[in-house]
Order: sequence, then structure tokens, then C-alpha cells
Amino acid sequence: MRRDAKLQQLLLLVASSLFFASRSTLAAHSGGLHPVVLLPGYSCSQLEARLTDEYQPPSALPRCGARKGKGWFRLWEEDDPTIDPCSADQLRLEYDPIASDYRNVAGVETRVVGFGTTRGFGSRDPSNRNICMGGLVTALKGAGYTEGKNLFGAPYDFRYAPAAPGKASASFSNITSSLIRLVERASKMNGHKPVVLVGHSMGSFTTLVFLNRAPRSWRDRYIKHFVMLGLGAGGNSIVLQLLNPDLSVPPANALAYANTTRSFVSLITLVPSPKVFGHTPLVITPGKNYSADDNAEYLAAVGFSDGEVARYRTRVLPVILGLTAPLVPLTCVNGVGLPTIERLVYMDGESIQGGKPRVVYGDGDGIINLQTVLTLDKLIRDDPNQRYFKSILLPNVTHNGLVSDDSALKRVVSVILQASQATPY
Ligand SMILES: *[C@@H]1O[C@H](CO)[C@@H](O)[C@H](O)[C@H]1NC(C)=O
Ligand SMILES: *[C@@H]1O[C@H](CO)[C@@H](O)[C@H](O)[C@H]1NC(C)=O
Ligand SMILES: *[C@@H]1O[C@H](CO)[C@@H](O)[C@H](O)[C@H]1NC(C)=O
Ligand SMILES: *[C@@H]1O[C@H](CO)[C@@H](O)[C@H](O)[C@H]1NC(C)=O
Repeated sequence: MRRDAKLQQLLLLVASSLFFASRSTLAAHSGGLHPVVLLPGYSCSQLEARLTDEYQPPSALPRCGARKGKGWFRLWEEDDPTIDPCSADQLRLEYDPIASDYRNVAGVETRVVGFGTTRGFGSRDPSNRNICMGGLVTALKGAGYTEGKNLFGAPYDFRYAPAAPGKASASFSNITSSLIRLVERASKMNGHKPVVLVGHSMGSFTTLVFLNRAPRSWRDRYIKHFVMLGLGAGGNSIVLQLLNPDLSVPPANALAYANTTRSFVSLITLVPSPKVFGHTPLVITPGKNYSADDNAEYLAAVGFSDGEVARYRTRVLPVILGLTAPLVPLTCVNGVGLPTIERLVYMDGESIQGGKPRVVYGDGDGIINLQTVLTLDKLIRDDPNQRYFKSILLPNVTHNGLVSDDSALKRVVSVILQASQATPY
């Protein structure tokens, strides 16, 4: 009798561990998984363009006009280390004072590749696809997810950024309405289950602002969980380097041709946030120090126009200062313990123009400074309306490694599966 009871216990144990081991597959077969929508990082979304007669090629490069009137072509693919100067010219953004918004240069029309799918993430090069969530897509498929059924992608035009409330941003409005439609469709296709949103880096930022602005009732109805990878409370010191044309030159930074990178409003959105870095000097020069409070002065010092500096203050900064908890169940995953650019130090006699600063490193994932992650954690924990929240720090995992290193991927997939299977928090 006792033996039988023991045996029964043992069998139960085996059965339950088998059950848990195959739970994700079972769940998929029974339609139990919540749908997942992925938003990849900066520069991961492929862009297509077409040129109209209005397009004026640079005078030194008349060949850039060769595609006028010839239909859509691939303008941006993430693995392009020596991007063609024509593409760089056609990727530039301009500010349109009449629309009070950023737009493509005249004669260039653009669109993202494969909205709704992960097809347009990264490029055709497999290793490059992985830092653009390609590895995550493969891992999720291995866990029972199927592209187009319960796994979707939301590529977005990474050159643009959300604007302060009340200011026009046609691109962000488009992301918002496209994402709303995609989430609602994904939910409907899966028995009206709410959706798990997964962002990496700028994809996390885009998702956070999207959620901050979505009606509470919509978030409660449609969002099961937000898995936020590689994001802090706004900005990183590395961007200070990227924005200085003397430190960000082609071909190392392919998009620096024609000052293309500097024309992207997304990049000035990513300068260190005053909320995180405050008065701490981040750029030290013999004559003057620049802290995050002096971002506008720094932008002027590295050659941004008065108009651009004014727009930083009125259109960009309020978005960063206004970030709040998403008020949906949330898990953040970030790398720590790796040297991450914190400060640029110019020596006596050196100036921001032409000088070669010494770099001082702090903690982070190589791109995201740890203090911005900690500031965001606090901001979220301090919000009494935030429900479930967990912040996971992975030692020695790089910013891109979060979505491409084997061990980090395993962790991220388990977070997604848990979020997808847990009963409501
Ligand atoms: C808006 O987004 C959709 C994807 O839903 C895309 O097909 C369309 O080209 C975008 N429009 C503009 C103006 O960016
Ligand atoms: C890039 O910007 C810098 C600083 O404003 C300017 O001096 C330079 O001429 C620009 N380069 C091009 C190719 O437009
Ligand atoms: C700039 O910051 C450095 C380091 O914090 C400090 O030693 C220096 O006195 C500051 N310089 C100015 C001009 O404030
Ligand atoms: C992180 O890397 C450093 C240097 O390679 C090593 O000393 C340390 O043990 C690693 N930490 C973890 C938790 O893997």
C-alpha cells in the first residue's frame, strides 16, 4: 500500500514535470499562447524608396538621380557598412516649417518593408539579422510560435521620433495607428487574447511612448505584457559622440555622409536625459563643461542650427521628460557590467571642433548607461498605478547580445513564454 502511494507520487512528479516541459508546445497546439508583436532596434527596419522628378541629386553626384520615376527600391538595409552616398543623401530628413514636422527631402518617398511581419528586420545576412531580433524570431518559433498566426513584427521608420504632445509627427501617428491595427488583428486571430509586446532598444522606446499615449482601457483590453529589452529613461552618452561630425565620420559611421545621421530627429531624441544625468559634466572642455542640462548648448557647439536647437527644447526634450510607467504588466531586461561611454574629456588646447577627446567609461551594456536603466526602474516602481513589474539585469551581456547571445536569448524567451502563459496579474 505504502509502496503504491510512493509510486503514485513519483508518477505524478514525472507527469507534472513532463507537463511543464512541454507546456509551451501544448499551449501552442491548443492555441493557448498569447500573440507576440516584436519591435526591433534603431536601424533594424529596412526602408524602401522611390524618387520623383522633384528629387535634386547633390551637384557632385548627378548619378544619384538615376532611379527617378523607376519605382520602389531598397534604400536602407542594416548590413550596409559602406552605404552608397546616394542612399545617404536620400535618407536625409528635413524640417518642414509649414507642416511643423520632419519629412523626407523633396522627391523622396519612403516606406518600411513588410509591416506586420518580421521579414523586414535587419537584412539578408543571418548574423546581422540576429542583432535585429532574427535569433529571437527563430527561438520563438522553436517554442511553438508561428509567423503570421501568433507572431508578428512592427518595423518602423527609425529616422523619426515621437514629438511633444500637441506637435505634429506624421510618422509617429502612422506608427501608432498601424500598431493599434496590428495588435487588434493579432488579438482577434487568437481568440481575442491580449498581446505581448516585445521591444529592443529604440523599439522599446517607441513601444513605451505608444503605450504612454494609448487610452488606459485599450491597454487593459489588448496588452497582456510588455517585455522591454535594452532601454533606460532616456538617452545615452554615446550619442554625444555620434552627433559630433568630427567624431562620427564615414565609412565607420556610414550614415555620416551628407550629415545624414545628424538629420535624423531620432538621434537628438537619444541624447542623455537631464532627468538621469542632471548637472554631471558629460563633455569636459578646457573652457566649458556640458552636462545633460546643457544639451542645447552642446548641439549648437557641434554645429546644429538654431532652429534645430530650438526644436530640441520644444519638441524633443518634453517627450523624454514625460516618459512614464506603461501601466501594463512589464518586464525589463538589460545588460550590465560592460564598459559604456560616459564622458568625453578634451585636453588643454583642444576644442569640440576637431579635438579628439579621451573617453571615460562607466557601467552599462556597452551602449545604454546603467544609471538610465536604474532611473527608469525607479520611475516605474514609484508609480502606484503600475501593476506587475520586474527588472532583470544580465551581467556581461551587450546591448545587441540581449537579443543574440544564446544564454540571454534563452532568458528572454522564457520571460516571453511566462508572460504569455501566466494568468492575469
Ligand atoms: C504608414 O504605415 C503603413 C504600415 O501600416 C505603411 O504601409 C505606410 O506606407 C506608412 N505611411 C507613411 C506615410 O509612412
Ligand atoms: C555637415 O555639417 C557640418 C557642420 O554643420 C558642415 O560643416 C558640413 O559642411 C556638413 N557636410 C555636408 C556634406 O553637408
Ligand atoms: C569641468 O568638470 C571638471 C570635472 O568635473 C572640473 O574639474 C572642471 O573644473 C570643470 N570645468 C569648468 C570650466 O567648470
Ligand atoms: C564578466 O566578465 C568579466 C571579465 O571578463 C569576468 O571577470 C566576470 O567574472 C564576468 N561576470 C559574470 C557574472 O559572468
